[in-house]
Amino acid sequence: METIKIGLIGLGTVGAGVLEIISDPENQAKIENTIGRKLAVKTIVVHNPNKPRPVDTTGINVTTDVDEIVKDPEISIVVEVMGAIHPANEIIEELLQAGKNVVTANKDLIASNGPKLSALANANGCDLMYEASVAGGIPILRTITNSFTADQILEVKGIVNGTTNYILTQMREKQWSYDHALKRAQELGFAEADPTNDVAGIDAAYKMIILSLFAFGTQIKLSEFNVSGIENITDQDVKQAGQWGYVIKLMGVAKLVNEKLFVEVAPTLVAKSHPMAVVDNENNAVMVTGAAVGDTLFYGPGAGGLPTANSVLSDITSEAKNITLQTTGKSFNSYQHERQLADPAD
Ligand code: NDP
Ligand code: HSE
Repeated sequence: METIKIGLIGLGTVGAGVLEIISDPENQAKIENTIGRKLAVKTIVVHNPNKPRPVDTTGINVTTDVDEIVKDPEISIVVEVMGAIHPANEIIEELLQAGKNVVTANKDLIASNGPKLSALANANGCDLMYEASVAGGIPILRTITNSFTADQILEVKGIVNGTTNYILTQMREKQWSYDHALKRAQELGFAEADPTNDVAGIDAAYKMIILSLFAFGTQIKLSEFNVSGIENITDQDVKQAGQWGYVIKLMGVAKLVNEKLFVEVAPTLVAKSHPMAVVDNENNAVMVTGAAVGDTLFYGPGAGGLPTANSVLSDITSEAKNITLQTTGKSFNSYQHERQLADPAD
């Protein structure tokens, strides 16, 4: 069976999750059944190759030189999970120009430059995919793309940042201080390398920009809407909200008002009886309201290595199916699966 070779840029929380999933023999067997190919990480680019890693990199080329991926004709899919806009933007441009398919979890970059990079991918006959950039483990971009093909989306709203939701939950449930809860969110790998964007609402705003593009086909800029974070929420605010029958959540909303797009990110009082009120810890939830379907709600882990890596893997396998289609003519449809049903006698 042929092997699709992968380049991985970044081996932190998400990168290690990707390698862990691919390295598991049971997962490999499922991947082989699904796409008819093996997947193998050939080269990993990191900042510090001598750092101890929580995953086994035996047999993998670990380097600081991105050219070892860009110039390797064997590598057809590259996963960028290094974070930040620069130098990720320049590296992805180089990869796309070299005809590599790119999968990224980088919402900062996609919200700022996604359409241009997608155009570059198209021009070079390759793909740019970024399911993991919004709401971690929730397959929300794929859902909007595949399942709202005819319906008019009226509103997308939800909790799209795991770090702030974790902090607000611990402040409410365990009376932790804001600083202590933020420190734990960093230790657990939920927060960005620099958590400023998390707590200031910018990370959620990036995700609302991407969701707006998918839901409404409109590219908005960070400077065009109101963004407030949770830095000024006090223990007293959290307690007072509880006494009034509310919880505080950092909510993002994008909706059509008189046919114009309104977007906002702000701490919001949510009634305890509302479905969003029970979305706690690092979990996220996104409500998509369609004119025909009404309200639909998607829930799951919004941050963390393995959940986010699962979304990365969904893009990798989707890309691998495209490669199989291009090279063998074998196509896959959404519902096709090739796993043998277990024999009840076994
Ligand atoms: P980490 O900070 O844990 O890991 C970043 C990795 O990239 C590290 O391995 C680091 O190398 C490497 N790296 C950073 N800069 C460079 C550079 N200039 N050259 C080479 N390697 C570099 O980040 P995360 O895994 O948490 O996040 C990665 C991406 O995924 C980000 O875009 C983030 O926003 C996104 N994301 C993260 C989620 C999460 O829960 N953590 C969820 C959804 C998306 P070294 O290890 O040697 O320092
Ligand atoms: N820092 C981000 C969060 C990671 O807390 O939601 C997931 O995008």
